[in-house]
Amino acid sequence: MIQFDGVSKQFRKDNAVVRALEDITFRVERGQLALVRGPSGSGKTTLINLAAGLTHASRGSIRVAGTCLDGLSLRERAALRARDVAVVFQLFHLVPYLTALENILLPTLAPAKTGNAVERARELLLELGLESRASHYPDEMSAGERQRCALARALLTHPAVVLADEPTGNLDPASADTVLAHLDRARTRGATVLLVSHQSVDSIRPDVTFELCEGRLV
Ligand SMILES: Nc1ncnc2c1ncn2[C@@H]1O[C@H](COP(=O)(O)OP(=O)(O)OP(=O)(O)O)[C@@H](O)[C@H]1O
Ligand SMILES: [Mg+2]
Repeated sequence: MIQFDGVSKQFRKDNAVVRALEDITFRVERGQLALVRGPSGSGKTTLINLAAGLTHASRGSIRVAGTCLDGLSLRERAALRARDVAVVFQLFHLVPYLTALENILLPTLAPAKTGNAVERARELLLELGLESRASHYPDEMSAGERQRCALARALLTHPAVVLADEPTGNLDPASADTVLAHLDRARTRGATVLLVSHQSVDSIRPDVTFELCEGRLV
């Protein structure tokens, strides 16, 4: 699950305050897929980063996968991500000196997560149309290929919570539908999915849809 209670996030820049999110309250249950829509600058990535524990809320309380993030140290947040929370970043954040296959296998660096990871990574490459790109480095792949690689990395270990920031942003309609189908499948096996998207997601049906406008839920 993901729960936000009265969450605000402000950034200080020079002498100004940017109010990125204001008083956000919502809950997404286990096995649900929530869609967050909103124009550029409305706070979508900030919301994802907060849910991932990558930044601290200025106010309010956040629970993810049964854990309250508020008092956790950086190390504890990182441990929670390694165990339960996968992020598909808007800008991918693939490791440039690792191949596609190695990038997808990164989550197995967390202890006790190896299993049949290579097999599963190859399966994901195939399903996402990247089978011929396994040994390519990120700068040898198109933006859409990197995006699908980032999704495969997020889904490798069947995380309890999947946070996806514009995961279809660089894709043609057919590839976008494949990506959405994978997020839908994650929901079916009981994951909590938070999907941020500008585009229509006609091929799947979110359980809840939120609209963000200038940092507020409307
Ligand atoms: N570190 C930061 N310091 C100052 N302002 C920031 C910072 N990060 C984000 N902002 C501001 O907060 C607002 C929300 O940013 P955010 O990245 O969450 O928007 P977004 O909805 O994801 O936009 P996009 O659709 O373009 O990705 C923007 O006005 C942005 O300029
Ligand atoms: Mg964004």
